[in-house]
Amino acid sequence: MNKYEEQAEVLRQEQLMPEIFRLTLRAPEIAANARPGQFVMVQTSPGYDPLLRRPLSIHQTIGHDQVQLLYKVVGKGTRLLATMTAGQQLNLTGPLGHGFELAASKAICLVGGGMGIAPLYFLAREILRNTCPPKCVVLLGARTAAELGPLPGNFMDLGVTTHLATDDGSLGHHGFVAELLLQHLDPELKWTVCACGPHPMMKAVAGQCRKQGWECQVSLEATMACGIGACLGCAVPQAELSGPYLHVCKDGPVFKAEEVAWL
Ligand SMILES: Cc1cc2nc3c(=O)[nH]c(=O)nc-3n(C[C@H](O)[C@H](O)[C@H](O)COP(=O)(O)OP(=O)(O)OC[C@H]3O[C@@H](n4cnc5c(N)ncnc54)[C@H](O)[C@@H]3O)c2cc1C
Ligand code: FES
Repeated sequence: MNKYEEQAEVLRQEQLMPEIFRLTLRAPEIAANARPGQFVMVQTSPGYDPLLRRPLSIHQTIGHDQVQLLYKVVGKGTRLLATMTAGQQLNLTGPLGHGFELAASKAICLVGGGMGIAPLYFLAREILRNTCPPKCVVLLGARTAAELGPLPGNFMDLGVTTHLATDDGSLGHHGFVAELLLQHLDPELKWTVCACGPHPMMKAVAGQCRKQGWECQVSLEATMACGIGACLGCAVPQAELSGPYLHVCKDGPVFKAEEVAWL
């Protein structure tokens, strides 16, 4: 798979919520080659602090040359990223990793929790681009309505059926997003469920899929130093415990749930 290092131009920095930003960059090589579920490693500072690039999912590509990222400010790197303004340059490597694989799926459910929603928008758009799109249902969850902000509206604007859950009941179902699977998915259909979010959410989703006999793909997060399989820092044990470790950056970040030990 081709990957590129690009000096990207910042086109737009939008603050969607107090800590959540959407960054649009001109990065033609990455935009032309990206698949939903892949990510980029972003150099958040031209200097040495922080030294390491930060992994961020590709939220969507726009036209033939733009890449959009959706990110939450949690530490130094993302805080620096949030200061970038239109016209500045940012170094990116990507597209990296393996994305979602949906070739033969007739009914697809996307389940996103918190910032795990970021890569699912690209996936939803790609599914709907199909001339004969499969059935698609989107389930989104967060702790509060405020944390979901405008993100559900973006999916609804695509025309995709979208159901919501919040931990505090401030929007949609009062409870966890995984609980929406059984409420909204027709058990007669053979669903492929694509999940991205906190580990407990993905464990719950994978467990329900296992019971129903549905395929489940999960996009995992790990601390990444290199993003290309060189440092071995992003290892996760695979289900076949005697086998070698999986590396989230090069074997994933998207895995079949049955490949991962803790799912
Ligand atoms: C493949 C992949 C794709 C990702 N895609 C996205 C994305 O699309 N949008 C996005 O917002 N994030 C995404 N992340 C997470 C993102 O990489 C981290 O939030 C980022 O690296 C933090 O960098 P920092 O320098 O701001 O924080 P650091 O200084 O590295 O960390 C600051 C503090 O935040 C904690 N922290 C680190 N990551 C997270 C996190 N994800 N959530 C909460 N706390 C965290 C650390 O443990 C530490 O305590 C992705 C991660 C991976 C592996
Ligand atoms: S981040 Fe270095 S091997 Fe995955």
